[in-house]
Amino acid sequence: MKKTILTGIKPTGQVHLGNYMGAIKPALGLAQVQDYQAAYFVADYHALTKTHDAEEFRQLSYGIAATWLALGLDPEKAIFYRQSDVPEIFELNWVLSCFSPKGLMNRAHAYKSMVDSNQASGKDADLGVNMGLFNYPILMAADILMFKTDIVPVGKDQIQHVEIARDIAEHFNNNYGETFILPEYQIQEDTAVLPGLDGRKMSKSYHNTIPLFAESKNLQKLINKIKTDSLPPEAPKNPDESILFTLYKEFASPDEIAQMKLQYLSGIGWGEAKKELFNVMNNFLEEPREKYNELMSSPERIDAILKEGAEKARAVSSPFLKEIKNKVGFYA
Ligand code: ADP
Ligand code: TRP
Repeated sequence: MKKTILTGIKPTGQVHLGNYMGAIKPALGLAQVQDYQAAYFVADYHALTKTHDAEEFRQLSYGIAATWLALGLDPEKAIFYRQSDVPEIFELNWVLSCFSPKGLMNRAHAYKSMVDSNQASGKDADLGVNMGLFNYPILMAADILMFKTDIVPVGKDQIQHVEIARDIAEHFNNNYGETFILPEYQIQEDTAVLPGLDGRKMSKSYHNTIPLFAESKNLQKLINKIKTDSLPPEAPKNPDESILFTLYKEFASPDEIAQMKLQYLSGIGWGEAKKELFNVMNNFLEEPREKYNELMSSPERIDAILKEGAEKARAVSSPFLKEIKNKVGFYA
């Protein structure tokens, strides 16, 4: 039987190059593996813990869906849906919450770091904490367990959440017998952490991102903003210490990379290096950007694709939820 691989991205900001390299590109690769049934979804209810502006929420949700599709996710092969379109997940969320020790939630990192930072600045410990944030890992456990997921590809920060899902599944299984599969996380150890405009990790939180689908003029402007040192144009440069080269490598062909390396070693002006970077990046992104913009201007197409995906998802979640409810004692 095929293994189930499942992951979600929450729509809390514009997708940037770091998200693409670190999460989306590897996930798209896994969706091609014959032995896997991939399920990818827009974790919109998770984003509701943070985004409370309706129009922004809607646009960001469409944005995540359009990004996956523009980059080549095939909704015929992968099950691709919106979390909020699968109500069984939320019913399971409640069942699981009755098997989730509160202490486990107290230790979950998103909640804990908020409490810690409140306390460090002498504020009320729970300031700004809503119950959605507190219960976040239980909903994530429901996402994962509902589809009998074997493998969850995630970033390092999500390891704890997958471990919590295993814990909750074990509590339930211990009481009612084997029901849920214990999921494993999969980390892309070899994927580089992409640096942002200021050299730190590219992240929404640092406001140093290059949005994946920035218009080409804007893309050029952002690339020009990348920090470089003050070496003169003719001085040899170390490609391995240059953010420009790190980014170049992600988008250029092996031949182009080898040639560019030589140019760095023999001396290339930063202006020139930026121009070359823009060229390979723009070349790579042009087509998906166009597809993305097309999709964003006809959200009904995105809705139709996601609706079909939700039907496929519910063909799995609906009977499984019945089975779970049966075990719990809801039916005669
Ligand atoms: P952000 O740091 O911008 O808030 P998220 O935490 O939403 O990004 O990350 C979504 C996914 O993208 C995660 O799997 C994360 O590991 C990956 N990711 C985020 N930033 C980078 C980066 N700079 N380089 C590589 N992967 C990244
Ligand atoms: N919590 C994940 C993140 O912040 C998103 C997510 C929600 C998820 N449900 C999931 C990831 C289930 C993997 C599996 O990135």
